[in-house]
Amino acid sequence: MRLILSTLLLGIILGCSGTDQTQNLSPKEAFIDSLLNEMTLPEKIGQMSQATGSFEFTGPITSDSSTLELVRTGRLGSFLNVVGAERTREAQEMAVNGSRLGIPLIFGYDMIHGYATTFPIPMGEAACWDLDLIKRSAEITALEASAAGVHWNFAPMVDIARDPRWGRIMEGAGEDPWWSSKVAVARVEGYQGDDLSSTGTIAATAKHFAAYGAAEGGRDYNTTEVSERTLREIYLPPFRAAAGAGVASFMNGFNDLNGVPASASHLLVRQILKKEWDFKGFVVSDWASVQEMTDHGYAASDKEAARLSLAAGCDMEMVSTTYETYVEDLVAENASYLAMIDDAVQRILGIKYDLGLFEDPYRYSDAGREAKYVLHNDHFKHAREVAKKSIVLLENRDNTLPLDMDLAKIAVIGPLINDPVTPLGTWSAQGKKEHVTTLLEGVQLAVSEQTKILTTNGCEVNSADKTGFKKARSLAKQADVIIAVVGEEAMMSGEALSRSDIGLPGVQLELLQMLKATGKPVVVVLMNGRPIAEPWMYENCDAVLETWHLGVQSGPAIADVLFGTYNPSGKLPVTIPRSVGQIPIYYNHKHTGRAFDPADRYTTKYIDEKYGPQYPFGYGLSYTNFEYSNLLLDKSSFQAGESISIEVIVTNTGPVAGEEVVQLYVRDMIGSVTRPVLELKGFEKIMLAPNESQTLHFSLSAEELRFWDEEMQFNWEPGDFKVFVGPNSEDLLEAEFKLL
Ligand code: BGC
Repeated sequence: MRLILSTLLLGIILGCSGTDQTQNLSPKEAFIDSLLNEMTLPEKIGQMSQATGSFEFTGPITSDSSTLELVRTGRLGSFLNVVGAERTREAQEMAVNGSRLGIPLIFGYDMIHGYATTFPIPMGEAACWDLDLIKRSAEITALEASAAGVHWNFAPMVDIARDPRWGRIMEGAGEDPWWSSKVAVARVEGYQGDDLSSTGTIAATAKHFAAYGAAEGGRDYNTTEVSERTLREIYLPPFRAAAGAGVASFMNGFNDLNGVPASASHLLVRQILKKEWDFKGFVVSDWASVQEMTDHGYAASDKEAARLSLAAGCDMEMVSTTYETYVEDLVAENASYLAMIDDAVQRILGIKYDLGLFEDPYRYSDAGREAKYVLHNDHFKHAREVAKKSIVLLENRDNTLPLDMDLAKIAVIGPLINDPVTPLGTWSAQGKKEHVTTLLEGVQLAVSEQTKILTTNGCEVNSADKTGFKKARSLAKQADVIIAVVGEEAMMSGEALSRSDIGLPGVQLELLQMLKATGKPVVVVLMNGRPIAEPWMYENCDAVLETWHLGVQSGPAIADVLFGTYNPSGKLPVTIPRSVGQIPIYYNHKHTGRAFDPADRYTTKYIDEKYGPQYPFGYGLSYTNFEYSNLLLDKSSFQAGESISIEVIVTNTGPVAGEEVVQLYVRDMIGSVTRPVLELKGFEKIMLAPNESQTLHFSLSAEELRFWDEEMQFNWEPGDFKVFVGPNSEDLLEAEFKLL
């Protein structure tokens, strides 16, 4: 039946717009329309079904021969976890040559921070505040993945997370809806480019729709209860932004949102996404999330689960097979499902069309391009650049950092000093430990020939064994400085990897305490997939670098910062709490009727913990100092249709050149519903030489001051506002204006 496809293709090539103009169909619509007319119901359902492959480059595509039979009979439209030019070509041949209509498969894969060249974990990368760099990481991911036959990325994950116990906090861009929206757009644009059909771009997915990050207690897969206002104001903006940027697909969350599993949420999918936002791409479920609705106690049977998801607008079912098994029966019982099925199939075929798969189903399965682009040198250069810019300097007492490259003796101590796996983080796709340059290797490459490096692990990441402390102490005593590399292993954050204690695991804190007791300066290099609450470490060690899981160039990037080749400029995209008991803690909270006042007992606080976080959102130090002055507004009031200009002077008053992320926040003083104490509305990243000043200009319009008001209308309200500019969400200059 390749003939049918060829005939259809010929129709397009000859310009089927001729006949279609009468119906006002674009060539794409005409093509999909004709194809849909040819399809049987089982073939349509096949397009709505996705199976998993074996994850591997070699070996069988899947060990399940019945799945391959589905491919050959046109009853499977997509695979996930089949990668590599050869593997994907083999599977594609089965679909194209074997099935009646020869409709190509679409191959999806999780590449949240790179395909083989691994970049910082997404939350870490969001600390660089450089959208061009973030976009470039996504472009490279697309280039490598597309060369290896992958068409579709299950990224960006754009879930807002306010709970660092939740392991998946590492997959997003942190806690702020405004910044997460910018990052979402950069990533979507990076993956998809201007033209999905070009060989170097792939389809992206905004996931997990929606509010999955609000899981109770930070326990993965857990229940979420979020008011519609908070949903729309906090959790949805990055999804809205991704949709606006033309993201090809959305993925349902695993969570039950206000009593309805996200995979069956009419409100989310049919109402908000497809109607209000007019989204034209398709929606894929999460892994078996359709079938899991029986476990939620929402669907009485698998058949009911299929019906509920289909009705809610989930277009493709991932891994579970309720569509494949029951949708034909559902149609037999109620023919009105046919329209929903046609809509779903049109959406899926539309993305396949946009990818150019009908023109050439093998265009991405190109062993030559795969050999050329995967792990390309230029990609490693970018990996180092983005990694060093994602590092956040949290402490630097007495200017301990940067270190001299010709120190006589440096002790590099800790369980993660030479670990090539941890920097890859979770969801490392085809990232391999042999591609990683470890911290120790990075330090060795950076220091002078005379410098002696003394190394020992001291302990493991998560063990009670302290027998290694003795050697660690003796090496530490001999050194000029100690670089202590501690944190979480790759598989301590990510999916199904929530923690109830977000301190340093095992005896790592004791290791640091022992090292500090030697009297030698201790520089902590933290590697972690979530904010780590460990006050003693932050308050006693001489310097602390937050390095997340930085990817393949972790070692050189950290060495760049340790030795001052690069002056750190990263700023936290997420609050670091002092203790688990403070969670949830985030900068854009409400004011309350009794805002924190240490002098007044009857105000919001703890009796056994400080009120504020360890480090606020937006925080990060530099090897130089920046002073903020002269915050000026061009007017004291303005009305809708106008905007207000905000000016501030930033001066580098320190000894070296450096970059600063200048942040703009607002507060709507009185609203028909209460408003957050601060909301990020803008930023500029600037480079200043010593003694250099720069005047920065921001502007704000009434549109940017909109919120979901008492009547759930998205609007601004006249009244008093404060505007704030500063280096983080706590140290701010402020001014006032009125919106008339
Ligand atoms: C995750 C998704 C992921 C999917 C496919 C699920 O368990 O929640 O984020 O895209 O698996 O690997």
